[in-house]
Amino acid sequence: MILQKVKKEDSNPLHTSVLLEEVILYLDPKPNQNFIDGTIGAGGHAEKILERTGPDGKLIGFDMNPESIKQSKKRLKKYKNRVLLYQSNYSKIERVTYEQSRIHKISGILLDLGISSFQLKSKGGGFSFKIDGPLDMRFGGPDQELTAEEIINKWPEKELVNILQNYGEERHSRLIAREIVRSRKTKHIAKTNELVEIIEKVYSNKPKPRRIHPATKTFQALRIAVNDELNSLRRMLPQALNILSPKGRIAIISFHSLEDRIVKQFFRQESKGCLCPPEFPVCRCAHKKQLTILTKKVITPSLEETKQNYRARSAKLRVAEKI
Ligand SMILES: C[S@@+](CC[C@H](N)C(=O)[O-])C[C@H]1O[C@@H](n2cnc3c(N)ncnc32)[C@H](O)[C@@H]1O
Repeated sequence: MILQKVKKEDSNPLHTSVLLEEVILYLDPKPNQNFIDGTIGAGGHAEKILERTGPDGKLIGFDMNPESIKQSKKRLKKYKNRVLLYQSNYSKIERVTYEQSRIHKISGILLDLGISSFQLKSKGGGFSFKIDGPLDMRFGGPDQELTAEEIINKWPEKELVNILQNYGEERHSRLIAREIVRSRKTKHIAKTNELVEIIEKVYSNKPKPRRIHPATKTFQALRIAVNDELNSLRRMLPQALNILSPKGRIAIISFHSLEDRIVKQFFRQESKGCLCPPEFPVCRCAHKKQLTILTKKVITPSLEETKQNYRARSAKLRVAEKI
């Protein structure tokens, strides 16, 4: 199944693509095939796909973030009309692909979830606990209504505990939520640094997490909530299956266990036939096997990649092929 090796890439100043070599090996793009990159970011994975799908293969790219669309457009300029970019949530993948791109034969789909390095470092994005900025975190910018600021200042304490627990797996979710609610009674919390201070205060008399900053999980949880990331992924997976051609492949890189679990369960379910409980004498669900899982064991970055790109350390790649 694995056909060719690709060169190791030099890191890109905007964003170093994670598991690039492995993604290309598994998607195995060939001349004139069409692919979808649901999270085009700085266009690193897309560029490698386009290099192999000439002269006529199309690359349909999605991103909610206007800056990502701008950066990838610039990077992929030389591929001209082989690239179709849409500033859209990938959860609309089926409609946009059929109605706007009008391309019906899709050989592979990639999702590289989360956030790119240039988004993380942007001053106005509010994604990083290391850079002071507005508590924003919207991938789509002003087009989206909900901001991290609104969650932090308006959501009830119970809801804050919920997102910190469910999306951040934050050990001190209750204490952090309580401290946020206490602080916001005296002063509106508008900046990332103010939130970091609150979290650091909670952690001041507690053992610090070993390899990450105490604010890491809270920031992750807020970003997931603001962008409704898990539901976008849940909505996208069945659509991806609909639009993939037979033998088409879907590759998904996730960065935390919540996303990875959704992908793993979906792949597992769709790689089975009947889903009826074993005690049913005959099948009532009529479910058909639609996928073959190609990564029996999840793919993770090599030590070498993790050394060169720290962001890659938690990446997990799963790939499946449509029957
Ligand atoms: C890790 S980056 C992708 C990097 C890209 N693979 C590369 O090699 O440059 C993830 C991108 O996905 C985008 N994104 C996240 N969730 C999205 C969603 N639901 N719909 C569309 N784009 C999304 C982010 O804005 C970001 O640009």
